[in-house]
Amino acid sequence: MPQPQPTAHLALGVCDYPEHVSPSRWALHARQQRDLGLRYVRIAEFAWSRLEPRPGQFNWAWLDEIIDLIAREDLQVILCTPTAAPPAWLIRDHPDVLPVGRGGHVKTFGSRRHYDFSSGTFREHSRRITRAIAERYGSHPAVAGWQTDNEFGWGDTAQSFSPAAHAAFHEWLRERYRGRVDDLNDAWGNVFWSMEYTDFQEVPLPNHAVAEVNPSHALDFLRFSSDQVAAFHAEQIAILRECSPGRFVTHNYMGFFSAYDHYRVSTGLDFASWDSYPTGTLDAAREWQLLPPEDRLAYARTGHPDLTAFNHDLYRGAVPHSGRFWVMEHQCGPVNWTASNPLPADGAVRLWTEQAWAHGADACVYFRWQAATMAQEVMHSGLLRHDGRPDRGFHEVAALRPQAYPLGPVRTRVALLHDYESLWLINAQPHADGMNYWAQTLAYYRALRTLGVDVDVIHADQDLGRYALVVAPAITLVGAERAARWTRAAAQGTELVFGPRTAFRTPSGRTHEDGQFGPLSDLLGARLGLYDSLPHGLTQGLSGGHHARLWAESYEPRGAQVLHTYQGGPLDGQAAVIRSGTATVIGAHSDTLITDLLEERLHALGLHPTRLPDGLRVTRRAGHLLVQNWTQAPLTWQGHTVPACGSLHLTPTPTGGSR
Ligand code: GAL
Repeated sequence: MPQPQPTAHLALGVCDYPEHVSPSRWALHARQQRDLGLRYVRIAEFAWSRLEPRPGQFNWAWLDEIIDLIAREDLQVILCTPTAAPPAWLIRDHPDVLPVGRGGHVKTFGSRRHYDFSSGTFREHSRRITRAIAERYGSHPAVAGWQTDNEFGWGDTAQSFSPAAHAAFHEWLRERYRGRVDDLNDAWGNVFWSMEYTDFQEVPLPNHAVAEVNPSHALDFLRFSSDQVAAFHAEQIAILRECSPGRFVTHNYMGFFSAYDHYRVSTGLDFASWDSYPTGTLDAAREWQLLPPEDRLAYARTGHPDLTAFNHDLYRGAVPHSGRFWVMEHQCGPVNWTASNPLPADGAVRLWTEQAWAHGADACVYFRWQAATMAQEVMHSGLLRHDGRPDRGFHEVAALRPQAYPLGPVRTRVALLHDYESLWLINAQPHADGMNYWAQTLAYYRALRTLGVDVDVIHADQDLGRYALVVAPAITLVGAERAARWTRAAAQGTELVFGPRTAFRTPSGRTHEDGQFGPLSDLLGARLGLYDSLPHGLTQGLSGGHHARLWAESYEPRGAQVLHTYQGGPLDGQAAVIRSGTATVIGAHSDTLITDLLEERLHALGLHPTRLPDGLRVTRRAGHLLVQNWTQAPLTWQGHTVPACGSLHLTPTPTGGSR
């Protein structure tokens, strides 16, 4: 059988739900999809009740027909395993499949994702339905690839507090601590508040304690829950590999989702995908306090460029060997799930698509074909309106010329390090309102993007050999191996920039016995002085006219050079920024200071930073320099006028971290 071939340029696609409309419209829809210039149609991720209406009784006829209709129009299918929506009969027969929420309540049937990753029963049904669909369609010439499930963890379901999860957690702990409960006690520091256990069986789930649980306990439960998602995923991937040779396998993740380790859960995928809803992502800006309120308003109709771009860069790196990603659900009109759901600006769909491409997307698959006429998402837009007329997004997609966007790797010499375990630790004890892991990380990412630099977001333990500058804004968990890897990179000349709280915690979540910077102390030539948690509105002055907000920590140099000191307040005169060899540590949370220091480092490395006007961003891919204006008025940059909510394609000069 001929296998689907990838294109040399950006591919467009759409998420479709043929089971939501009359079969009399299927042929028309497939034709319209082809005429629109689409290449892929993603289907069936919530179709289990139509595929297996009764236990063991499959109905493939409708899916056979729709796949053939799609193939007839020369379109290709992304088929999904339908496990995100187990049917009612399965829950009736096996109520133990349901997940249990943090409050101890069973989450019932009635929406989606009502399953527990630790449920042995559900694992069995997941393998069964995956094998059934993969055996039937795995070699169909129109099936280009697979999406596993849908948005693991959506609806706060990555962690379950069920009896099955509890039993599996005990087993996981027993294995991690090689059967020695005293090792667990030591790792978690359970002597504190007399929390010591005499047997693994005594360890409770971390959801019903009187007050906050030991963060090390919470950390291990997050690791365990993450491993459960990964194990569930691995089972589906193995079956798809066996039954569908030559097809890609991917999963559609969510922006800023934090409940599992996406690197581990992605093991075995060809590449990662994510679901990009730029105006929806502004919700994350609210939740994690990533943007001042006035910016949230200014970008209400486009989303903020850096919030969307960060997730593109993160998911491009989630499967490190792939160097690419897909946007598996791409916003094409208003969403329905934020407090208010504004119409996107004219041109926004094109702006977003071009941005995704420039950050390394090989395909953008719009969500969804036709607006749903039933159930939870009737207020969500599609390319077609409820009555089948084209909506605004349709016209913008029709005007796109995918051939104008050649594929090719994103090449940059600047990396930003990311680590879910550090995220879990910082977010468990942020110590200052607004100073969470994402806020700390985005401060550095935004600074790099406003300096015109392309950024690889990579895992903290990845090889750093190809990078000239490595920025680690919030890697608080640093053990001996990680420290040794970074120390070697520094010795080889890699420029390293660290943010506050670096190397504060051990891999089990304790602090280092010799204090911050633990195993990095020699490299950084200093130790922690004081840290100060600043309420909103209280600032700490710094040399150079900068001000720290939310967080200020000082250092006692032991060989390091002092680049900035605090001025006034309890930290007066103490070191705020230190430098030792090729490593810099910035203890103050200050956008202007971070930007100045990164600019200096980029200049010194010959990476030519360039300060961009507010709302303008540049990105390079495959011989193009994409200049994008995210504001509602034209902007001028280097003699070029960039239209409001629009882009220019220029030829790159050797700037912004590219090589
Ligand atoms: C995603 C989900 C889709 C749909 C969409 C609406 O989170 O995967 O099924 O619900 O949001 O924006």
